[in-house]
Amino acid sequence: MTLEKLFRLDGQVAVVTGGARNLGFDQASILAEAGAHVVITSRTLVAAREAAARIMRDYKVEALPLELDQRDHAQVAAAVAKAAAWKGRLDVFINNAGGGSGQSASHLLERSPADVTDMIQTNLVGALHCCQEASRVMVPQKRGKIINIASIAALIGRDRRMYVRHGMKGQPIDYAAAKAGVLGMTRDLAGLLSPHGIHVNAISPGGFGRENLPPAFRAEYGDRTPLGRMGRDGMDIKGATIFLASAASDYVTGLNLVVDGGFSLWH
Ligand SMILES: NC(=O)c1ccc[n+]([C@@H]2O[C@H](COP(=O)([O-])OP(=O)(O)OC[C@H]3O[C@@H](n4cnc5c(N)ncnc54)[C@H](O)[C@@H]3O)[C@@H](O)[C@H]2O)c1
Repeated sequence: MTLEKLFRLDGQVAVVTGGARNLGFDQASILAEAGAHVVITSRTLVAAREAAARIMRDYKVEALPLELDQRDHAQVAAAVAKAAAWKGRLDVFINNAGGGSGQSASHLLERSPADVTDMIQTNLVGALHCCQEASRVMVPQKRGKIINIASIAALIGRDRRMYVRHGMKGQPIDYAAAKAGVLGMTRDLAGLLSPHGIHVNAISPGGFGRENLPPAFRAEYGDRTPLGRMGRDGMDIKGATIFLASAASDYVTGLNLVVDGGFSLWH
């Protein structure tokens, strides 16, 4: 197998949920660069359309924008059906949508039950709905790659003093619970779907440094990271994504690929 054949996705169809911005957009971009037609979902159709237009402008592929709130199973079923009908196939499904902290305080003692429920519903139940519907298309095809985006929050506890020092809210416990659920789901689903030729893997990113984070926080987080910095948009998620989406990972399933600059090593 040549390098080209290992990593190219020419003519394939890939869905990226929450693909209109940040990590989702980076993932859609690398898949498109590798030759896949991409379906970009967002809760806002306008955002999905803008991202799809950018993808089509920058790469020689087609892009289909879809509106999707993955908390609602009926919406997931409809979106996956549209994605599969678009070109009659579904090769890669990236469960990227998620995150969020809700309106209430993040500390468990002050957190509202509504925010806890919404967090689990978005990050775990929504991802499970997507896995279920993607599998319904992929099993009859006898092929497919599902990639679930978890987080290092699923693996390690947080030193919340760092967030407090920089006047930040910090991540709620329910986020860690949801992402740990995503990892459990990934492992079990990988075994369940392996006889059908479907690969299920996860990527657990560490913190990505963005303009909305206080510079002093970014500096401290980088200092606590073996590779000396936070993750970078436009670059650091792409390698893991193309590896798990392509033939390069054809003998890999049930993996959690940690992309955190080594942050979790020191915790
Ligand atoms: N940014 C980080 O540092 C980081 C670290 C670890 C893991 N992650 C995970 O990576 C993924 C992408 O993160 P990001 O930083 O690019 O997030 P982001 O907030 O920029 O994008 C998340 C996307 O998910 C979508 N989304 C949220 N709720 C949704 C719902 N109910 N239905 C459908 N779509 C919904 C949003 O509209 C958005 O497009 C998330 O799953 C996040 O938890 C991010």
